[in-house]
Amino acid sequence: MTARHILLLPGDGIGPEVVAQAKRILAWAGSHAGAEFTFSEALIGGAAYDETGNPLPAKTLALAKAADAILLGAVGGPKWEGLDYGVRPERGLLAIRKELDLFANLRPAMCFEALADASSLKPEVIAGLDILIVRELTGDIYFGEPRGVTIEGNHRVGRNTMIYADWEVTRIARVALDLARARNSAVCSVDKANVLEATEMWREEVQKLRDAEYSDITLSHMYVDNAAMQLVRNPKQFDVMLTGNMFGDILSDCAAMLTGSLGMLPSASLGETDPKTNQRPALYEPVHGSAPDIAGQDIANPIAAILSAGMMLRYSFNMDREAALVDRAIADVLAAGKRTADIMQPGSTQLGTQAMGDAILEALTTLSNQQKVA
Ligand code: IPM
Ligand code: MG
Repeated sequence: MTARHILLLPGDGIGPEVVAQAKRILAWAGSHAGAEFTFSEALIGGAAYDETGNPLPAKTLALAKAADAILLGAVGGPKWEGLDYGVRPERGLLAIRKELDLFANLRPAMCFEALADASSLKPEVIAGLDILIVRELTGDIYFGEPRGVTIEGNHRVGRNTMIYADWEVTRIARVALDLARARNSAVCSVDKANVLEATEMWREEVQKLRDAEYSDITLSHMYVDNAAMQLVRNPKQFDVMLTGNMFGDILSDCAAMLTGSLGMLPSASLGETDPKTNQRPALYEPVHGSAPDIAGQDIANPIAAILSAGMMLRYSFNMDREAALVDRAIADVLAAGKRTADIMQPGSTQLGTQAMGDAILEALTTLSNQQKVA
């Protein structure tokens, strides 16, 4: 197998701690598959701003463009909240998404059996939960112009623009419809077509694509307010949820919490596949933020970062076998009652960040030894 280069962008807060554990898992997977993984590390977010005055330094961007895959920790924290929008840590994340055209954000929300009790919802509502949020990531009100705050007469006026072109809708809808084919063949597209014209167009374009090319997929449409309600009422009704950037941001935090903790939700952000090389730019990151309040204390949950590494194995490196082992190792560790503080339950054993990484690595070794024997 050819050598693969992975760029690590630990970022701020708990980012470095969780990325360190995910790196150990990637290194394990590389050697297990006989693949040659090399790693480098670069600055992003507040850490990059402190060093260089820029949350996405040119050097980081160049490394990102050259890497086979990127693993990011988290960005932001109270230290940088007073900065101008243009240099805030979050801008580093938004800029790398935009620069690499990472338009397809996959956020799977799965409930591990052992954690069915850790959710704020009743266990029967979330046991067996397996939904995939497909969020458009490079358009919408996040990037729309005009934007900003102006003085008009005696008043300050704040303005942002929700905007989508038909091709942006079609390309993200295609990702959702394709992924649904490998799952339960159902896509629910989320909009606010009763109020917002841009999202009415979204609805029409998604339907058009489905009718033209995906008659095997069941497509439904739902207003975003109803979707938020349905996610907490009966989340298992969903298979793939297709959303724009803004609605997806909100709904994915909601979906994350269904699984017991924000510390459990991974994500992949994918760009277009280059037809010549068959490669696509890809960045993997836990959905949880930088959690500055618990940073540096070895108590953060590294599982979302490790699951994100698993998604990298699956989507960037076609290492489905190792990705499945990572998922199983995590399930085994949780089933053995090992927990980080955020998912701690009575009678379980509380582990720190590093010790959780140890436990998952140990479970991986056990699993692969069993396979060799079998
Ligand atoms: C996310 C985050 C980001 C977003 C922030 C940090 C810019 O909330 O990835 O969901 O809003 O997209
Ligand atoms: Mg968010």
